[in-house]
Amino acid sequence: MTATKLLLGQTLAFAGNPFDVAPDEAAQYNRRGAVLIRDGLIAEVGVADTLRAAHPDAAITDYGDGLIMAGFVDAHVHYPQTGIIASWGKRLIDWLNAYTFPEEMRFGDRAYAGQISETYLDFTASHGVTTMASFCTIHPESVDAIFSAAQKRGQRIVAGKTCMDRNAPDGLRDSAQSAYDDSKALIGKWHGVDRLSYAITPRFSPTSTPEQLKALGDLWAEHPDCLMQTHLSEQTDEIEWVLGLFPEARDYLDTYEAFGLLGEKGLYGHAIHLEPRERDRLREVGAGLVHCPTSNTFIGSGLFEMQSLMAQGQRVGLATDTGGGSSFSMLRTMASAYEVGQLRHTPLHAAQLLWLATQGSARSLHMEDKIGNLAPGLEADLVVLDLNSTPEIAQRNARAEDIWESVFPTIMMGDDRAIRATWINGQAITS
Ligand code: GUN
Ligand code: ZN
Repeated sequence: MTATKLLLGQTLAFAGNPFDVAPDEAAQYNRRGAVLIRDGLIAEVGVADTLRAAHPDAAITDYGDGLIMAGFVDAHVHYPQTGIIASWGKRLIDWLNAYTFPEEMRFGDRAYAGQISETYLDFTASHGVTTMASFCTIHPESVDAIFSAAQKRGQRIVAGKTCMDRNAPDGLRDSAQSAYDDSKALIGKWHGVDRLSYAITPRFSPTSTPEQLKALGDLWAEHPDCLMQTHLSEQTDEIEWVLGLFPEARDYLDTYEAFGLLGEKGLYGHAIHLEPRERDRLREVGAGLVHCPTSNTFIGSGLFEMQSLMAQGQRVGLATDTGGGSSFSMLRTMASAYEVGQLRHTPLHAAQLLWLATQGSARSLHMEDKIGNLAPGLEADLVVLDLNSTPEIAQRNARAEDIWESVFPTIMMGDDRAIRATWINGQAITS
């Protein structure tokens, strides 16, 4: 018999969507709750005393006032940009050329890619992030590196070879055919192995020829169970560039749609400056939009329209966009989403922020039946938050009258000190 583990603390799960119903209706909160873990899965969630009495042999970890919830899911990152995060002063296209492309060039070296993969997964674990969807570089080695590192850790991850066959420097371009062949080989090698999933990954329309977009659209049609991740309408000058490169296109989204790259399992990063037709099509197909607030403010891209997109019934996830985003922390990312909401005169509730960082992102990855909540049968990927991690936060939390007021200062002022523990696949991660 495998050992069962019982975690005690405050517990927070979601039974509903706090964008649709009131926070207290959406949430299942227990002041003294428990999570029973068996074989890497959540077996039961309930009241501490009850589960303790029912499972006297379970190995107990008592987190006291710690808040146990689903691990954070980061729905859009570029792990190869770990080393150039927080690079100063440029907007998107110049930022790519000045900082990103030179660094991504280095990932043909499997050893370097392996080293950054390990560093990145150490950083994210220390921030309570248990799953991410990552772009790699054009090099298959960069995909092997992150999948190998995640596999060793028993971690659920989505990743894919970034494809670019134009408007990128020498040494950082593939071709329509090699993008197809390499991506197909990587799907065969990694997709569905352990907790690893492959995402077909055209970087964005400006760096792919129509031929490459078509080849990747064809590949997606052959592997419809794969996700497809890309970028959409991040900056206004990017949009103008796209429309110049694709004169036939009705709008930016059409440059994907025309080549079979619009679908329910598509993940579209940023999606800030959308035309009504684009919104309607994204909604119709049920595609995933990924909000990357620290990136959108850092690179100066614009303000995501969370409230109206959610009201429209879009599938929205939350992400750091490492390293266009300026932090590995999903707490900082939630704080930034709150601030973007304020600038749009629609502040997000703490329940909405926590939901986006877990359920929302898991739904965007079509993995809500596996991760993103505290519920029996889901994988035991968890984060435990210390809601009194600094004197500044503790003195504010002392005045809190409910769980939302209690967790909000940790969201807004928290950093990795608030991450008391991260559990991946039923194991506590210690760094
Ligand atoms: N658009 C195309 N590539 C990228 C990237 O690496 N980061 C961001 N933020 N936007 C992009
Ligand atoms: Zn990105």
